[in-house]
Amino acid sequence: MVGIISLVTGWPGPSGFGSATTAEQVTEGIDASNLTVIITGGASGIGAETARVMAQRGAQVIIAARNMEAANEAKKKIVSSNSAARVETMKLDLNSLKSVREFADNFIATNLPLNILINNAGVMFCPFQLSEDGVEMQFATNHLGHFYLTNLLLEKIKRTAKETGIEGRIVNLSSIAHLHTYPEGIRFDGINDRSRYNEKKAYGQSKLANILHAKELSRRLKDEGANVTANSVHPGLIMTDLMRHSLFQMKVLKILTHMFWKNVPQGAATSCYVAMHPSLKGITGKYFLDCNEKEPSDLAENEKLAKQLWTFSEELVKSAQRL
Ligand SMILES: NC(=O)c1ccc[n+]([C@@H]2O[C@H](COP(=O)([O-])OP(=O)(O)OC[C@H]3O[C@@H](n4cnc5c(N)ncnc54)[C@H](OP(=O)(O)O)[C@@H]3O)[C@@H](O)[C@H]2O)c1
Ligand SMILES: *[C@@H]1O[C@H](CO)[C@@H](O)[C@H](O)[C@H]1NC(C)=O
Ligand SMILES: *[C@@H]1O[C@H](CO)[C@@H](O)[C@H](O)[C@H]1NC(C)=O
Ligand SMILES: *[C@@H]1O[C@H](CO)[C@@H](O)[C@H](O)[C@H]1NC(C)=O
Repeated sequence: MVGIISLVTGWPGPSGFGSATTAEQVTEGIDASNLTVIITGGASGIGAETARVMAQRGAQVIIAARNMEAANEAKKKIVSSNSAARVETMKLDLNSLKSVREFADNFIATNLPLNILINNAGVMFCPFQLSEDGVEMQFATNHLGHFYLTNLLLEKIKRTAKETGIEGRIVNLSSIAHLHTYPEGIRFDGINDRSRYNEKKAYGQSKLANILHAKELSRRLKDEGANVTANSVHPGLIMTDLMRHSLFQMKVLKILTHMFWKNVPQGAATSCYVAMHPSLKGITGKYFLDCNEKEPSDLAENEKLAKQLWTFSEELVKSAQRL
């Protein structure tokens, strides 16, 4: 209830920030000039605004996108309003584990450090489709591609943290929609079962997977003593291209619930807060909404499910690579 009141009024929570806070406000005064950031899906929506603001704070930003034309357009826009911005674009298609591998290889070949990884790209409510590797599209894009990407870049992030003494951070764009998943949480026995596919629940499932992964990853990083945190965020409700498969429904919903919606600069605030704010030093395995920590669903807190998802995802990546 408190959450709803603060969402509508924009009153700040314990962090001093709230639903009305923008990405610029939450990063004010932060010097990011020693940080290198990768933002998946950084060519549009929340990701593009996150890229703009991080570049404004001095970070070296890599926009990872499948549509290079859109990515270069986004880069041009950022640089045209800020000629000092350091922005690069690199090709990444999360529906293809081969593309994920190539992206990681190309990034590592640049010899850049990696301080922050923002797993932001996503698709929502698409009709049943399989990825290049034969995995249901929402699970493949939102979860599996990011799972593989994170694993391939993890050594780099850990090493950068160690060599620079600056904490590494991994941020996953989850969603409040993680509450609306299949009853078993993750449908391990039928991830590709078309006959039982529900596009809304499949989105919820993939977003639950993002939180479970942040949790499991943060446990692993803690055990290793790595100076790298892993958290997940719900950015709020923002009208973006994400709504392409449900545009009419979303427009109606927005008319009925307009006071719950945010604009894009507000939508990028929670990602930027979790990726950069000094007050979150050492905070890991948590879920954030409106720039404040929140409890996710019981399923998202389930450690057994998180471990099971990790093993399942590893197997899926292995079997896809044998195809
Ligand atoms: N907007 C909201 O209300 C809301 C609410 C909760 C959570 N989120 C989450 O926030 C994140 C950002 O969403 P957004 O609202 O900013 O949507 P958006 O504007 O559609 O941005 C998503 C980005 O992901 C990219 N993408 C999709 N599939 C990809 C793939 N296979 N490989 C590489 N990139 C891919 C898209 O590129 P293309 O244009 O090429 O498809 C797009 O640039 C998503 O993870 C979403 O689930 C958003
Ligand atoms: C950036 O790195 C340089 C060289 O290591 C260091 O002198 C400087 O203080 C750092 N700046 C910030 C803002 O951390
Ligand atoms: C983000 O989500 C992906 C896919 O669900 C997962 O592999 C990765 O470990 C997660 N990272 C964090 C920081 O949550
Ligand atoms: C981890 O990073 C933080 C924040 O950048 C730094 O203050 C701390 O000393 C680092 N810890 C280790 C063990 O390197």
